[in-house]
Amino acid sequence: MKIIVTGGAGFIGSNFVFYMLKKHPDYRIICLDKLTYAGNLSTLKGVLDNENFRFVKADICDRNAVYNLFEEEKPDMVVNFAAESHVDRSIENPEVFLQTNILGTAVLMDACRKYGIKRYHQVSTDEVYGDLPLDRPDLFFTENTPIHTSSPYSSSKAGADLLVLAYHRTYGLPVSISRCSNNYGPYHFPEKLIPLMIANALNDKPLPVYGKGENVRDWLYVEDHCKAIDLIIHNGRVGEVYNIGGHNEMTNIDIVKLICKHLGKPESLITYVADRKGHDMRYAIDPTKIHNELGWLPETMFKDGIKKTIDWYLNNREWWETIISGEYQNYYEKMYGNR
Ligand code: NAD
Ligand code: TYD
Repeated sequence: MKIIVTGGAGFIGSNFVFYMLKKHPDYRIICLDKLTYAGNLSTLKGVLDNENFRFVKADICDRNAVYNLFEEEKPDMVVNFAAESHVDRSIENPEVFLQTNILGTAVLMDACRKYGIKRYHQVSTDEVYGDLPLDRPDLFFTENTPIHTSSPYSSSKAGADLLVLAYHRTYGLPVSISRCSNNYGPYHFPEKLIPLMIANALNDKPLPVYGKGENVRDWLYVEDHCKAIDLIIHNGRVGEVYNIGGHNEMTNIDIVKLICKHLGKPESLITYVADRKGHDMRYAIDPTKIHNELGWLPETMFKDGIKKTIDWYLNNREWWETIISGEYQNYYEKMYGNR
């Protein structure tokens, strides 16, 4: 089996590459990644010498580059992680989100049509469903919840999902889509809540909590997400959407306080800052479908996963310190300087 994994130098994509090379040692994994600010080749250094792995630096929007790679490798499957993924950046500059997340998806699927494919899998997000109110803990996103997006990021992901389903109906492309809740774990880029708070706390810097910190996210350890995608691409039904989530809802402020506690840092570092525009209140996934059809269940409890994650950031300071000492500093100043 030959799989092209796009966005494999980013957070979830790299964890998926590691998971697949270990789980299926006979598979060939080809990572196609543009190496944007969020992609990091050093993340993949442990597998670059693996003879079943190949890294190709290219943009999923570059039709020639994508077609050439398909021509050369004749992949059996494509798993598309490549995306602009940060909501705050999408509020500042939506255009690149539309380019990569929608047009890039179209280019990949056109290549699949042209060269043939057993499965095209789109890695989507629960954010396409919009948000749920805090006072209705009985409500969850199912695969039938209407698409109702809030941010340019989630709108671009929803646009891509609609296109994927259209390619299935119109051209018969064998597609599947997964919509997962917030992930956490190793190699998470330090602009996102959990790694940002860990890095700031370790540097005794303020911990910027948006609004009142009462927004709720449904956190899943990244490896559980990778396992779910592996199940879907092999056993999931073509043309179907699968929600992935672990019934692990937490408020942002509780997460930040937990990180302070684990690191022995004072809660006085917490600083309440201006809220995100259009900030989604609550995400919560109903994973019944993937559980019933594919037997998937999350395996890592949050209390264990967050400890593993914090330990990883403590043991891999060089990885994130290199990131936050470079171009990222300009971003940080822009987003948080006058907030
Ligand atoms: P990330 O930002 O850490 O990584 C994205 C990767 O895509 C980077 O390696 C980047 O270089 C690459 N990339 C960006 N534009 C590209 C382009 N035009 N061509 C080729 N490569 C390009 O993102 P992530 O958090 O790992 O998310 C991966 C996917 O999972 C995304 O599609 C995201 O929407 C989805 N998702 C993320 C979460 C989460 O909690 N992080 C939850 C659900 C779904
Ligand atoms: P984030 O990690 O950006 O993921 P998403 O917006 O895709 O869910 O943010 C998670 C939550 O944390 C979200 O409610 C916004 C909040 N947040 C902060 O309060 N402060 C921060 O500095 C960041 C980056 C996020």
